[in-house]
Amino acid sequence: MSKKFETRAIRTQAERTQHREHAVPVYLTSGFAFDSAEHGRALFANEEEGNVYSRYSNPNTDEFVRKICEMEQAEDGIATASGMSAVFSSIAGLLNSGDHLLVGRAIFGSTHQVLTQLLTRWNITHTYVDIKDPDSWEKEIRPNTRMFFVETPSNPGLDLIDLERAGEVARNNNLILNVDNCFATPYLQQPGAYGADLIVHSATKFIDGQGRTIGGVVVGRQELIDELRFFARHSGPAMSPFNAWVLSKSLETLAVRMERHCDNALALARYMEDHSAISWVKYPFLPSHPQHELARKQMKMGGGVLVFNFDEGLEAAKAFIDRLEMLTICANLGDTRTIVTHPASTTHSKLTEEERLTVGITPGLTRIAVGLEHIDDIVADIAQALDRR
Ligand SMILES: Cc1ncc(COP(=O)(O)O)c(C=O)c1O
Repeated sequence: MSKKFETRAIRTQAERTQHREHAVPVYLTSGFAFDSAEHGRALFANEEEGNVYSRYSNPNTDEFVRKICEMEQAEDGIATASGMSAVFSSIAGLLNSGDHLLVGRAIFGSTHQVLTQLLTRWNITHTYVDIKDPDSWEKEIRPNTRMFFVETPSNPGLDLIDLERAGEVARNNNLILNVDNCFATPYLQQPGAYGADLIVHSATKFIDGQGRTIGGVVVGRQELIDELRFFARHSGPAMSPFNAWVLSKSLETLAVRMERHCDNALALARYMEDHSAISWVKYPFLPSHPQHELARKQMKMGGGVLVFNFDEGLEAAKAFIDRLEMLTICANLGDTRTIVTHPASTTHSKLTEEERLTVGITPGLTRIAVGLEHIDDIVADIAQALDRR
């Protein structure tokens, strides 16, 4: 009988060694010894399976990838040094010069830079589509469109892509559906169930959960991962075994952590919705979210991030942030510690004002990545910062 999510996250482990350790050790080794010259030859000729060199594979990275595959119900995957190397590899490792991507407009700032500043150098082009208007997507498909890349919920606007519709469009037009599932994590949302061919994560966020490591992962259909493995093996975005060990341990607690992140975020969103200093709050599991029904359909809970707006703009947001006493001002998210970020002046500052506004990043937009402190203390800090105006 297939085991439940939490059990698989804990019980998927690298094989025990002759030392009978209970917790998997860190395999900090760049290379692996061959039994004989013939063994080395056979490994390189792919006639035998086994570790050769940690840029190709390592027991810790393999364990981490196997766990994510278990959670996303994916066939195979590769671990990468960061979320951005996962995003970049998942596109550059598969597309050729002359290919085109369809992209949901609301995406992470660096992904936007990769599309607009880097991939264009190799004549890989893209068209942004309105993520809230699925009927418009197919109109943008060209004969050379090969991939549909989406992020849901989006960072930081918390807009959602209808994964079922995205799956249909990809299937009907023979596109690779590539989903950045960073904000939801595999605990809240499994895009593979809607036909995603690839799922990418910044493991730096909720997968780590304690703000210690940078990491990424791409999982998906075997034949696509085979191509990506070749790309990664030779271009070298490998995750370090130590980071893989940390991240694999973190996955053991992903389910319980996400439950608490989401409970805290929903409670905070409800509190803020009633506060007169704020013009609006956006959180997928608040009924006021414009895509609330869709969130309920494709996400188990609302996630650990909420955004809200000060109509007075940048100065009001900055003043609020500077009055916070406990929350950390930081660009990261998905940590045990609650983090406040002002996207327009930091993570999304490289976009033009117009580009920011088209994805809902107003000057007063403020993002809170809700941590695991007691909700009363989180609310108290925000309350004093809002009330002391
Ligand atoms: C949605 C999303 N994708 C990708 C990334 C990039 O991940 P990393 O910082 O691990 O490279 C981020 C980082 O914030 C993100 O929020």
